[in-house]
Amino acid sequence: MTGLHTPAAMPGFAAPFANPAGSPIRELFPYLSQPGMISLAGGYPSPSLFDAEGLAQAAAQAMAGDAQALQYGATEGLPVLRTALAALMGARGIQASAEQMMVTTGSQQAFDLLVRALIEPGDTVLVEVPAYPATLQALRLAQARIVPVPMDEHGLQTDALAYLLHRLPATQRPKLLYTVPNFSNPRGTLLSAQRREALVQLACTHGFWVVEDDPYGELRFDAPESNAAAMPPTLRALGDRLAADGMNPVVYLSSLSKTVAPALRIGWMLADSSLLRRCAIAKQTVDLCTSPLAQMVAARYLASDRYPATVQRARIEYQRRMLALVQGIATQLDGHVQCAAPAGGMFVWATFAQSIDPQALFDAAVSQQVLYVPGTAFYPDNAQLNTMRLSFAAPEVPQIEQAVRRLAAAVTLSMR
Ligand SMILES: Cc1ncc(COP(=O)(O)O)c(C=O)c1O
Repeated sequence: MTGLHTPAAMPGFAAPFANPAGSPIRELFPYLSQPGMISLAGGYPSPSLFDAEGLAQAAAQAMAGDAQALQYGATEGLPVLRTALAALMGARGIQASAEQMMVTTGSQQAFDLLVRALIEPGDTVLVEVPAYPATLQALRLAQARIVPVPMDEHGLQTDALAYLLHRLPATQRPKLLYTVPNFSNPRGTLLSAQRREALVQLACTHGFWVVEDDPYGELRFDAPESNAAAMPPTLRALGDRLAADGMNPVVYLSSLSKTVAPALRIGWMLADSSLLRRCAIAKQTVDLCTSPLAQMVAARYLASDRYPATVQRARIEYQRRMLALVQGIATQLDGHVQCAAPAGGMFVWATFAQSIDPQALFDAAVSQQVLYVPGTAFYPDNAQLNTMRLSFAAPEVPQIEQAVRRLAAAVTLSMR
């Protein structure tokens, strides 16, 4: 028997999902599967740097212990991992107890939880630009009012920020500011010590949270031994020093994705207890807890003595790859493409001549079998068309050299 009623139309999607744009980087994925393509696009760590043996040992230990690794765990994370991460914070010059740390499913989740806990539609959020695209996406879905703060070769411009804060009407007082001070994604810049202090002072004076997203800080190229000694202080440590009322406005996020393996999906957040508690409540409805198995593997791995050597190998190898890319651009694309050598991380930010058509360049690059991320992906208004982000982390040096030759061919094809 057929139904007696005409079916009703299904209800509509929530406003932010009515017509959403996907992540501009993830939308490059179809090109990656084209045979022979060399990708300088994703921020993927080098597969040759994964410490598979060390992780296999850690996984065996995790499984050999009591059944904790296979059970649900506390939303804030397993105490053994929180303690190990607090110790890692100490090595970065940050005072933290295990209770101040929350384990998250990648640091991407940490930012998402912060947005849930803090942002309502129309709230003002300051973002350094060019910005990490997933941050822009999370803020767009939350219907935040994104206010860009410009960067230069020393990172976020704190003078411009001070001016902006002065001019913003009281109704648009920002709730938070997002920055990647160490080897930013996409610009590769390291925020100067002076600007760090200025930024935290501004946060204390004007009263807004600062999200210090730091997945790359350990990947400094010229610090073979102690990374922390070579780095400017973290914003979080400055917040501990400068916050007059003991309320540190800096939320510190980090991750094992870039130094150990993204598949672990282990990130963490260090924040004031009032904020951390609310993020934990938000996490309860998102995934109950980060995989205890992954947490246990991470904890075992950090407890072994392999982590420092793994990071050290990555620093040396990424520097080699970065130099291959930057020197290749300087010799083969001189006059057409310009870039600066970053002091760490995974990215080179390049600017190309106005005489090159951006869409034609991207199409020509794909036809030459080399992929990069067009600069527009990193701007809230899709501006800055003559820029691109190139990641040197995943391809080996000979592939990078080949990629530069292909880029040079693409440039020749796309001159206006
Ligand atoms: C600046 C920045 N933050 C966060 C992430 C996400 O890292 P995770 O794998 O820990 O979620 C990335 C990854 O590319 C990143 O570049």
